[in-house]
Amino acid sequence: MKPIYLDHAATTPIHPEVIEAMMPAMEEVYGNPSSVHHFGRKARQMVDEARRTAARSINAKEKEIIFTSGGTEADNLALIGTAFANKHRGKHVITTTLEHHATLHAAEHLEKQGFSVTYLSVKENGQIDTSELKEALSEETILVSIMTVNNETGIIQPVKEIGMILKEHQAYFHTDAVQAYGLLELDVEELGVDLLTASSHKINGPKGVGFLYVREGVSITSLQHGGQQERKKRPGTENLAGVRGFHKAIELAIREKQQRWNKYEEYKQVFLGRLKDNNVTFSVNGGDSKSVPAIVNLSFPGTNVEALLTNFDLSGVAASSGSACTAGSVEPSHVLSAMYGKNDDRTINSIRFSFGSANTVENVIEAADRIASIVERLTRR
Ligand SMILES: Cc1ncc(COP(=O)(O)O)c(C=O)c1O
Repeated sequence: MKPIYLDHAATTPIHPEVIEAMMPAMEEVYGNPSSVHHFGRKARQMVDEARRTAARSINAKEKEIIFTSGGTEADNLALIGTAFANKHRGKHVITTTLEHHATLHAAEHLEKQGFSVTYLSVKENGQIDTSELKEALSEETILVSIMTVNNETGIIQPVKEIGMILKEHQAYFHTDAVQAYGLLELDVEELGVDLLTASSHKINGPKGVGFLYVREGVSITSLQHGGQQERKKRPGTENLAGVRGFHKAIELAIREKQQRWNKYEEYKQVFLGRLKDNNVTFSVNGGDSKSVPAIVNLSFPGTNVEALLTNFDLSGVAASSGSACTAGSVEPSHVLSAMYGKNDDRTINSIRFSFGSANTVENVIEAADRIASIVERLTRR
């Protein structure tokens, strides 16, 4: 049985053009970008070109891009780096209960370091209530971190509205745009964003590289200590091949953005339609909230995550859940718990399906058929 990949929100296959673009960075351009000789200068040029493309992709300046080892590091740098550099102005940070753990655990770390953190609640539709944000803001607030697109549900937060609210406030606005980058138009000026996280492996680039956009004038403290790289904000020899691959992946994502969106929308509709045709009982978590079509999170009443994922895997369908499975027991998804409450069944019977370059209309239909027969078997009385 041919495996079918429906887990692009976890990671994506590397685009062949990305692999091709990376090869010279491993075979020919082996200098250290910090070296002043010819070899180093060629490598530096490669990093600079990537930085230009990354900056242009979000309407930023080149010097506002810091390459990191991925989304996790960028989120950590955004939260911890900004909080530490600005603690003289206040020690209060605001985030939400539905962030990725890269943000949530960084926020928890800040709490241990004496900062206070407000975790905004989430409505059943998966969005925050901006009036709660307004109430939570105080003179002590130095940073607000709210993701653009949630990685479990695909639901889009009102980032532009949040940017407007924060316009007159001293607090900097960070958004984790890992799941939005390459699908949504992200203009940091228009959105009023001061810091933005992106990751390469979610857009058909290599793993282990990403960037943090930091608006000029925003002070952040480096989490590492070492050389002068990345304007001293992220010391360490650059991941040249990774940066080169990310560069290519960004170019492709920009070029194909609308096409990709349309394709994923088609996959989503075909997938949901086929499940319905097969009489599967399910509901879409978050209902019809504004979301990216690449991610859909479905609840299958009368089932549980472990049985679903195990059987999907046996039938060659790769999907995932936000629930952490440890030693046979399931930790309910923190995102769905935030939306529906801890005791709601949807937190333990929901699966995230995410579409991308490994899909075709045919394999999405095939996956829906396999899923339908598994759900039917698991719910048969
Ligand atoms: C919303 C979000 N933020 C951050 C990350 C972490 O990115 P990385 O895997 O590049 O560390 C992910 C990855 O799953 C994500 O979905």
